[in-house]
Amino acid sequence: MSRLIPLFFLASLLAWLLPPSPRPVWVRGHAPPGATVRVKNTHHVSIADAHGRFTLPQGERFTASLAGHFITGASGHASIRLTLKALPKHDDADYQWAAPAECASCHQTIYNEWSGGAHSGSATSAGFRRYYRRVIDEKPDGAGVCTSCHAPGLRDDDLAFFDLRRAEGPLSGVHCDYCHKVHDLNAGDIGLTHGRFLLKLLRPSKGQLFFGPRDDADRGDDAYSPLHRDSRYCAACHEGNVFGIPVYTTYSEWLDSPAGRAGMGCQECHNKAGHTFSTGTPGLELEVGFTHTTSGTFAEVRLTPSKVGHRLPTGFVERRLVMTLEAGDYREETTFARRVTQPFWHGEAGADTRLRPGEPFVKRVRLPSGVPSLRVLITRYRYQTQPDDGQVILDRKWSR
Ligand code: HEC
Ligand code: HEC
Ligand code: HEC
Ligand code: HEC
Ligand code: HEC
Repeated sequence: MSRLIPLFFLASLLAWLLPPSPRPVWVRGHAPPGATVRVKNTHHVSIADAHGRFTLPQGERFTASLAGHFITGASGHASIRLTLKALPKHDDADYQWAAPAECASCHQTIYNEWSGGAHSGSATSAGFRRYYRRVIDEKPDGAGVCTSCHAPGLRDDDLAFFDLRRAEGPLSGVHCDYCHKVHDLNAGDIGLTHGRFLLKLLRPSKGQLFFGPRDDADRGDDAYSPLHRDSRYCAACHEGNVFGIPVYTTYSEWLDSPAGRAGMGCQECHNKAGHTFSTGTPGLELEVGFTHTTSGTFAEVRLTPSKVGHRLPTGFVERRLVMTLEAGDYREETTFARRVTQPFWHGEAGADTRLRPGEPFVKRVRLPSGVPSLRVLITRYRYQTQPDDGQVILDRKWSR
């Protein structure tokens, strides 16, 4: 005990010598009860109480958001007053879409990413059109089904609605203004109620309105949408039974994955690199180990989809990954796919050999004698019923 006394003395001496630590300056204010009030661009947040009162640390700008209202903001040092403007009551189907190029003047990077990604060409890309032309020939009554997800913004009185060969320009794809008018889901079942029929829009009759993932975007025409960080937002289009066939099963695969069980949404992986919606990584881990025995040298190849939230490949039913092992004269291919030989509307359901998230696929091979190394190639193919050159996503050589 007596040894602590000099310590106390030292501490009080220091406290006396050093300048006092700055106390936070608090700001009181008023906003509609229940509103989320924030010091803009920070984690300082508060909920206005039943009388609309809130207290926050001093900051440059304060914002408030509440369901059914535009986000608003104000600056000041004392008694901040935040009033909220209600969102339009009705969705106006006569609203004219804003072209993506109009967003580019302020969101140039996002525009470039979107232009280079798959969503911009969802109704016009050569890959889609090749299949679509066959649908028109073989199943003309079903042509409108594709529109729900591939061209969700088309008006139902547009001639292109039932004939996407007429669709052209950036507004025929999955475009900016469409995705940012979504704020909720309609009643319906994910997988059975496709794209535009599940996604609930709010299009204003006058002025502008964008829904987004932040509750402090206070330019005056923004509103907060928690759905934008929810996997169900993507599921509206990335899960689909088409003509009774489970053509797209990414969302249900996600529900059944380690990421899904941990509540890690699609956006946490696919929106990190921005609006290409690509993760920028193959998501595959490859390990090779060698064992030498009296009967020869064996290689154990271990392929694990490690940072993936669904099976690999996922998405369109024809996607295919091929692992090729090469050592001297030895060459072997393993295919991970849902095997199909005909376009999906013919109703064929082949064996499913795709990789499962987090689960290693292990293969043991005996190396020919005298061959010093093993080469492992992973190639990704987009189609099975169409010619496809494939794209090598991994190519490594392992020496024994
Ligand atoms: C497929 C639907 C979709 C399309 C198409 C789309 N967005 Fe987004 N956008 C989202 C989602 C979802 C988020 C939220 C991502 C997150 O933060 O997790 C987002 C986030 C944003 C944000 C806020 C975050 C940031 O990166 O600053 C802006 C601004 C934005 N989008 C603008 C645009 C513009 C401009 C375009 C067209 C060039 C566009 N979006 C196209 C779905 C879309
Ligand atoms: C004149 C410039 C300008 C134009 C044009 C513009 N935006 Fe924005 N937008 C902004 C700015 C600046 C912000 C950020 C506001 C803030 O942080 O308070 C913003 C915010 C947003 C947000 C909210 C982001 C979030 O994080 O929640 C979305 C969504 C959005 N814009 C979409 C669009 C779309 C879609 C278009 C085209 C149809 C568009 N914007 C056109 C300047 C613009
Ligand atoms: C309105 C429907 C719609 C919504 C909502 C949507 N997508 Fe898509 N997405 C599509 C379509 C259609 C394609 C295929 C475009 C093509 O290649 O023809 C696609 C393509 C993609 C691709 C590229 C696939 C490839 O093989 O290159 C990724 C990744 C993707 N979407 C992720 C997402 C994520 C993540 C979300 C949610 C934040 C989302 N999408 C929301 C319709 C949608
Ligand atoms: C833990 C991270 C993670 C989560 C969560 C995740 N994904 Fe992926 N996803 C990946 C990786 C990695 C790939 C393969 C590389 C790539 O194409 O970006 C991929 C591939 C895809 C592809 C195929 C793209 C292509 O080029 O073939 C689509 C479509 C897709 N994901 C959609 C989704 C949707 C929709 C969700 C949510 C239901 C989701 N992903 C959740 C990591 C994730
Ligand atoms: C439930 C929504 C939905 C419906 C309905 C739908 N698609 Fe898709 N489609 C998608 C999504 C999402 C992707 C991207 C998945 C991926 O990249 O693996 C896609 C990708 C494709 C691709 C691959 C494009 C490419 O080049 O890589 C083709 C082809 C295709 N769809 C054809 C069709 C046809 C034809 C119809 C109508 C009979 C149709 N789809 C209906 C959501 C849908």
